[in-house]
Amino acid sequence: MPRTKIAGIGMYVPKNVFTNNDLLKYMDTSDEWIQERTGIKERRYADRKNETTTTMGVEAATIAIERAGITPQEIDFIIFATISPDYYFPGCGVLLQRAMKLKEIGALDVRNQCSGFVYALSVGDQFIKTGMYKNILVIGSEKHSFGLDFSTRGRNVSVIFGDGAGAVVLQPTDDENRGILSTHLHSDGEAAEILAMYNPGTHANHWMPEKVADFDDAEIGEMFFSHSMIEKAQVFPNMDGQTVFKKAVIKFPEVIKEALSANNFQTSDLRLLIPHQANLRISQFVQQKLGLRDDQVKNNIQKYGNTTAASIPIALCEAWEEGKIQEGDLVCLASFGSGFTWASALLKW
Ligand code: ACO
Repeated sequence: MPRTKIAGIGMYVPKNVFTNNDLLKYMDTSDEWIQERTGIKERRYADRKNETTTTMGVEAATIAIERAGITPQEIDFIIFATISPDYYFPGCGVLLQRAMKLKEIGALDVRNQCSGFVYALSVGDQFIKTGMYKNILVIGSEKHSFGLDFSTRGRNVSVIFGDGAGAVVLQPTDDENRGILSTHLHSDGEAAEILAMYNPGTHANHWMPEKVADFDDAEIGEMFFSHSMIEKAQVFPNMDGQTVFKKAVIKFPEVIKEALSANNFQTSDLRLLIPHQANLRISQFVQQKLGLRDDQVKNNIQKYGNTTAASIPIALCEAWEEGKIQEGDLVCLASFGSGFTWASALLKW
């Protein structure tokens, strides 16, 4: 069975830089608070009208395809991970297929929040290993700036997130010293509401003891979205940050160790850990717990904030462009996020 290698990688971040101080115009916060709690100094926001989650994905994908040395016409499957899609449906995969004029190939959308890219990579890995596809495009992209609550009410969430995209082209390789060694996917829905955007949705207040949405009293239909939901600000993400933090610092090290031990490696063998850029304090805690040196962990949340499904491919691409990953290096990708879902992938570059 062949292994799956990353044949090309690309990233795109919007030009518009938003510093912590820029946020002061909209909410009661401070540069000091944000930096101390999250490590974030600035993030990028997409052009409101001219950029979407898909168009940013196209930018990153174009670079990845070029670096893989193939043409867009050779792509035979698309996997698009995002939680901020252009449309509620259809997904960004088909919009990217149209925008890039790709063949009439399959397009799969993955909704696994911060773990979206690693889940998508794992799916792509299976298709390559079985010989089903030869050139899979995997994209992680987010336009969070469009859907956050930028008033003081939403500050615990809004200051964290940023926009951007990353993409890779997956191909088979017979080289036993290269490629994805294993992937490890997990979930625990017990805490699904701890970090969630409830509306629009069909939940009808079924899962929570308290009402999280004002649905209309109509006998049938008209339940998906209501004026009251907008008036009462029920259309934004909710997060219990401390619970997320406590779970993340347990599950990140666990899933990284799982990947290493499945392949008989130690943390000292790692050239680079690319953690999902959730929060600098989480990454530092994980680094300390695993006894990794500074040069073994990639952090760029300071510049881009948390870009959810895009954060791992952006960090991986940046590390590669900086020359921090060479052929044969052992690299671990690891994520934790809403769901909860967590995942890792161990690869030889
Ligand atoms: N600016 C200023 N003050 C703020 C802000 C803000 N942006 N946000 C919250 N506060 C205030 C709160 O209102 C509260 O004030 P009070 O004490 O007067 O009530 C105070 O700061 C402390 O609030 P907490 O929510 O308890 O702050 P905490 O120290 O937990 O930090 C944070 C919040 C950064 C979200 C933290 O919980 C955290 O890092 N959690 C991890 C979650 C995470 O990283 N999520 C990322 C997305 S999910 C993922 O990718 C895994």
